[in-house]
Amino acid sequence: MIIRQATGSDADAIATLLSKSFLEDTAIVRVSIENNPRYSLSNMYVIEDKGLSEKIAGCLRITPFEICTRGIKSTMAGIAAVAVQPEVRRRGIAEALMEEALRKMYEMSYPVSMLFPFKHHFYKKFGYAYVGNMMLYEFSPNNLMNFEERRFVRPFTKADKGKVKKVLAQEVQSHGSFTPIRTDVFWDLVVMPKFKDAYVYDSGEVRGYVVLEFYKETNSVNGQPGGQAINIKELVALDASAHRGLWGFLGALGEQVNRIRYMAPADYPLHAFLKEPRERDYRRLFFEYKTFSTLASGFMLRVINVHESLRSLRHALEAPADFVIRVKDGNLPQNSQNLNVHVHNGETTVEETRRPLQFETEIGIFSQIYSGFLKPSDALRYGFASGEPGVVQKLDELFKAPAPFIYQYDIF
Ligand SMILES: CC(C)(COP(=O)(O)OP(=O)(O)OC[C@H]1O[C@@H](n2cnc3c(N)ncnc32)[C@H](O)[C@@H]1OP(=O)(O)O)[C@@H](O)C(=O)NCCC(=O)NCCS
Repeated sequence: MIIRQATGSDADAIATLLSKSFLEDTAIVRVSIENNPRYSLSNMYVIEDKGLSEKIAGCLRITPFEICTRGIKSTMAGIAAVAVQPEVRRRGIAEALMEEALRKMYEMSYPVSMLFPFKHHFYKKFGYAYVGNMMLYEFSPNNLMNFEERRFVRPFTKADKGKVKKVLAQEVQSHGSFTPIRTDVFWDLVVMPKFKDAYVYDSGEVRGYVVLEFYKETNSVNGQPGGQAINIKELVALDASAHRGLWGFLGALGEQVNRIRYMAPADYPLHAFLKEPRERDYRRLFFEYKTFSTLASGFMLRVINVHESLRSLRHALEAPADFVIRVKDGNLPQNSQNLNVHVHNGETTVEETRRPLQFETEIGIFSQIYSGFLKPSDALRYGFASGEPGVVQKLDELFKAPAPFIYQYDIF
């Protein structure tokens, strides 16, 4: 069994394998792997095993991203296009590819990796952990409040291109949490062509925008297309007035549209813009409770290099923090060291130590803590970590972050 980087001569075989595995047209897949603004064929790895198959038995891609978290830019390796020929599945080929990918990402100095799993259970074995929650809201536009600021909303025009790019960049810089930074070329080739039903909030300066996709609801009685509905593909607002303006504008579409569907960051306060905190076809669970949204579980994250990930934390803690941590990592044993972490005035130093441990956990739990998804004190409380309560309180403050979030156009 050999695993190697793909070359141009593998393009046909990879396109056939991916189209078979993801049920997409081979010609389209071929164009997308050869002319992609995010990656090239050299980001693909293939596995060959002549005993099993004459063809390439499987492949995966390590896509390089720049992300922003807690106001700091860093790199991230996105795992995607994991596929194995149907006739040689369940023989450990994808597992071998993943083990090799972990070694490669460590060599390439990536602090973290993320992926959208077909099955969380499969990737857990490799230290990836669930961190990507989204709230799927479906509500009537008539449930939105009538915000006056909607008068500043107007249709997007080509002249707004640079302005909306700036709005997103500013939002990701201030509130991004493991959020990919969208490159200019990706904006121009992939996202801009989708700005067909787009509106900007312009109160003298463009401070927000929304991109819509119209679709027909399915009639629940006969499955036929029903009323008109809107899917919000992207909504970005830089201040309170822009949020109110964009929601006010969407509320005014009530005569035309039955339903608005919005997949929001898990911590987005949508209730603040609605008259009633309930979804369109809400169920009354008890007299006192009504359903409001569906929690959607998405991407996973893995810290690849524990030392680097800790070093890149720049936190303005009021008092200096000093603690000894150990993260057990069966796939990358280099990570399993006792590390002394010292945080002061936004600078963090990390070094190996023999001092006694104050916090210990395994790589999946550490990845959830690092991403801000799980509080260290909750890890302790539910038995996912061991540690000194005094230190854990400090760690809660240190690892605090908004819910990890990836915009829909940036899903990989
Ligand atoms: C998902 C996919 C890549 C898995 O490839 P694979 O080579 O079959 O994966 P593996 O053999 O390494 O592991 C699959 C399962 O078989 C098990 N397995 C491995 N060797 C085995 C063996 N000799 N006998 C029985 N089971 C075995 C693994 O433990 C694993 O079980 P788990 O799902 O409970 O963890 C493949 O099914 C595929 O291409 N699917 C379509 C595309 C897709 O969904 N890709 C994932 C995108 S995130």
